Amino acid sequence: DGRMACVLAIETSCDETAVAVVHDRTCCSNVVASQIPVHQPYGGIVPEVASRSHLEMINTAIAQALTEANLGWEAIDGIAATCAPGLVGSLLMGLTAAKTLAMVHNKPFLGVHHLEGHIYATYLIEPELAPPFLCLLVSGGHTSLIYVKDCGVYEMLGSTRDDAAGEAFDKVARLLHLGYPGGPAIDRLAKEGNSHAFKLPEGRVSRPSGGYHPYDSSFSGLKTAVLRLVQKLEQEGDELPVADLAASFQETVARSLTKRAVNCAIDYGLTTIAVGGGVAANSGLRQHLQAAASAHNLRVLFPPIKYCTDNAAMIGCAAADHLNRGHTSPLTIGVQSRLPI
Ligand code: KG4
Ligand code: ZN
Repeated sequence: DGRMACVLAIETSCDETAVAVVHDRTCCSNVVASQIPVHQPYGGIVPEVASRSHLEMINTAIAQALTEANLGWEAIDGIAATCAPGLVGSLLMGLTAAKTLAMVHNKPFLGVHHLEGHIYATYLIEPELAPPFLCLLVSGGHTSLIYVKDCGVYEMLGSTRDDAAGEAFDKVARLLHLGYPGGPAIDRLAKEGNSHAFKLPEGRVSRPSGGYHPYDSSFSGLKTAVLRLVQKLEQEGDELPVADLAASFQETVARSLTKRAVNCAIDYGLTTIAVGGGVAANSGLRQHLQAAASAHNLRVLFPPIKYCTDNAAMIGCAAADHLNRGHTSPLTIGVQSRLPI
């Protein structure tokens, strides 16, 4: 049928070379070539290395996505790529590949905002989901509360003043000598630790008009508090209680995010919270948010991890919805490192 679009989508905004085929809200294939091992020796993502690696991987990933979907180009109604925000060199690799394919195969082209992709991840598991709902997006680059009003109509209600949630996990993991990426390592260790061993400050963002912003987060104070604690413990010559530190830190972040998301949903009369981004994998956040949501009669949707971390299926899902509505992008659009949704 011509109404339900089948899209080949490319996502290269950061360190995953991802290509997927999505038919409306059904994922037909979801290829992710992770660069984590490539960047591990550097302890973080090196942008120039990332774009070169995308270039090396992209053609194989495209071919694999079509093969796994068992489809040829004639079945594809449109070609999409993430155009913003992200690393400029990395974004350019995916966007240029998508534009080239659109020209060669004479298909409509769509540029997709990365955050809109994260919002659409939930539709892949819940095709009947319909706006309005609240999206809690917690990744290495974002800590956002987004009011989803309609396809393409979003209002940013909360964000972070400093570090993103995932960035905080990564920085604290580094302080605890746990390596990169830090989120999964902290999550694993936290299970063996006492989450009430240390009382850590939950960051708050003050408002010029007085009081605190109810939906904004701040994690740099928390990170500094962990740093001071680690320095003090190391000075005293004790062996670092890494599991207790990881558990206490995770507990503080999970409590802080849960409070903001639940208050925001209640204040705006939204009954569903869709969670996205790599930090949605965090077991502490899942427990806290699920419990608070049940207590307030809210529905929380956690897509599986493969749709929470960066992937192209979520980009294809957003693109298909736009294409179903007749939206396309001109081939002249460029990439942008920063762009509000
Ligand atoms: O969404 P994502 O794959 O990439 C973007 O940043 O867009 O998110 C990656 C972030 C990293 O900071 C990583 O440490 C964090 O998600 N993360 C976790 C967990 N798994 C990944 N943080 C806490 N707990 C986890 N289980
Ligand atoms: Zn992301």
